[in-house]
Amino acid sequence: MEPFIQELMSKMSTKEKIGQLFQSNIPEFKVEGNVLVEQDIHKLIRNNEVGSLIAIKDPRIIKQLQEYNMEHSKHKIPLFVAEDIIHGCKTIFPINLGLACSFNESLIEKIAQTSAYEATSMGINLTFSPMADLVRDPRWGRVMESNGEDPYLNKVLTKAYVNGYQQDSLKNKHAIGACVKHFAAYGASESGREYNTVDISRQALWYNYLSGYQSAIDNNVASVMTAFNTFEGVAASVNSYLMNDVLREKFNFKGFVITDFTATYECIDHKVCKDNKDAALKTLNCQVDHEMVSQTYQENLATLLEEGRISEQQIDQACYRILKFKFDCGLFDDPFKNCYDDFEDRILQPEALQLSKEAAYQSCVLLKNTENALPLGDNEKVGIVGPHIDVLEHNGNWSVMADSKNNYKITDIFKNDNIIFSKGCHLTEDSSDKELINQAVIDCANVDKIVLFVGEPEIMSGEATSRAYLNLPGNQQRLFEALLELNKPIILVVLAGRPLEMKYYEDNATAILYAWFLGTMSSPALKDILFGKANPSGKLSMSFPYTVGQIPVYYNQLNTGRPSASGSYEQYRSSYIDIPNGPLYPFGYGLSYTSFKLEDITFSSLSLSNSNSIEIKLTVTNTGLYDGYEVVQLYVGALYDDISRPNKELKGFKKVFVKQNESIEVKFELTKEELSYYNSKGEIIYSEGNYNIFIGTDSDTSITNVINYTK
Ligand code: BGC
Repeated sequence: MEPFIQELMSKMSTKEKIGQLFQSNIPEFKVEGNVLVEQDIHKLIRNNEVGSLIAIKDPRIIKQLQEYNMEHSKHKIPLFVAEDIIHGCKTIFPINLGLACSFNESLIEKIAQTSAYEATSMGINLTFSPMADLVRDPRWGRVMESNGEDPYLNKVLTKAYVNGYQQDSLKNKHAIGACVKHFAAYGASESGREYNTVDISRQALWYNYLSGYQSAIDNNVASVMTAFNTFEGVAASVNSYLMNDVLREKFNFKGFVITDFTATYECIDHKVCKDNKDAALKTLNCQVDHEMVSQTYQENLATLLEEGRISEQQIDQACYRILKFKFDCGLFDDPFKNCYDDFEDRILQPEALQLSKEAAYQSCVLLKNTENALPLGDNEKVGIVGPHIDVLEHNGNWSVMADSKNNYKITDIFKNDNIIFSKGCHLTEDSSDKELINQAVIDCANVDKIVLFVGEPEIMSGEATSRAYLNLPGNQQRLFEALLELNKPIILVVLAGRPLEMKYYEDNATAILYAWFLGTMSSPALKDILFGKANPSGKLSMSFPYTVGQIPVYYNQLNTGRPSASGSYEQYRSSYIDIPNGPLYPFGYGLSYTSFKLEDITFSSLSLSNSNSIEIKLTVTNTGLYDGYEVVQLYVGALYDDISRPNKELKGFKKVFVKQNESIEVKFELTKEELSYYNSKGEIIYSEGNYNIFIGTDSDTSITNVINYTK
């Protein structure tokens, strides 16, 4: 134990130590003028019964509470303040699923750093981010917060978030503590229904679901949040396998663990705890240190100690981890470290806005572009239509600190003489839609092209927004159908928090740009893209289903026994009788305004051992008419192993910017690590044998070479 904390704890009573284990939210602030009036939180502070706070959006209130705390806390222990800074604080960046499409870890690290700068300017010390839950089901509303379906991409991007938030030391003035969540496998909820049961094997857990959390822990993430769901029938907060065996022993996590919001109480609803006391006992036994909003520790730990059912050491350990975080952040040196009177000058700064725009270019995925429909020419007469054109809500969910008033409407940004605006319909059913559709058809009668901004309202994704249908809500398809009658090119721009069903539009639209929600600079960035000032470079972080009934559909699936290699079972195959097995758009897919050629792929050797690595080199040539980014992807596929392994697994990617007519050399280094996997006991396995190697620009690429590994 650090001597400073040890000395402090030697002066603290058991009750004061238990006080540190509670995170309070303050549902409503009573303020007179700008000053807080006496309320419950003041009493908690005076009684030394609270360690941290969440959900305070006003830095002035944070400062006042910290002042009050430093006056009244018996041992002058600062509070820390946590908030959900998920994809930006005041300057909002694309939703995380969109950012993952950038395949650009340094961009994401910069975004996390910028978010940390704004958040720490507003009094916040810890962010409940990154969310490393792997997701294969777009019906789940929180898919928008994830890095998508791939374990490797999840691992790389989670690391980037943590490094950007925490930088090289939490003591840095503008570093913020990160909290990776939700441990574990929250994204695997059955049928995509929020908070639902998770029932996956240990093999699946280790093979696919743990890589993101583990990557955060390997990069010194300050804290871990428990998940709401069960795993093997036991809720995560009281799941000893997850918390003790995996998190603390296997991953050697030394930071503090916090429950999700009231998750300890919910263990009773999961029927794995008899009452609050039982929940407190089991949660502490799982080395969970901090309770978010639930108060089972406050109410029961002292009694449990008296009864000899827990030890003083367990309470000390939890308290130590909380104090250590405060110490590491530098809050004991300066409790007001993150309180700035001039915070308004620190947010929404030009560099942050520019970064948000750049992130938007790299997150948008061009799914289709026939007849060179995009980019638009300056002299073309364009109908800008759709329910998203006159709304400001383009941040996407989980942008809790932001104000959409800082955004721009499409109608404000796209104004010019060649453009006609027409709303067309609302995002969800509205009685005026019929009229608006008719009007849009009239308005577009003389345009050259129609750009249709459709999608979900931003509140349709995020927590507790699972959907069973993945269509465009309301009358949006009717609007599309009516405009189709005009026989003009229709360019669909989709703003949504999840992959939607795009089959009908793939068949009928001329071009499709999938924009997710892009944040503060959404409209200016979209204008740059649509008019060719920027070239979209996103690649899908998640496969798009052909239709809902195909979910989950993901690229790294396992083979079945049928069709068999011998070609038998023509009829009795693992397939649908009405749709193909594959997705509509595969993981890693995305077009550009330009075209690229991958050439001269060479392998330094086709034999790998523990003492050598294989260098793979290739040339990427931009053969089209614009400068642009390409993402070269490396996939590995074991031909045979002790367990069934996917045909393809992403193991490397390089995002390169190549000017028109220029070439760039790209290199990958292949080692035994790229061939390895975790077995169900969490052991890394290196298997000798042959492996297919695939190099391409999406996951639907074919074999480039076969290599052999012998130890
Ligand atoms: C969410 C967490 C979030 C917490 C605090 C919960 O409902 O599941 O992800 O960090 O609330 O806002």
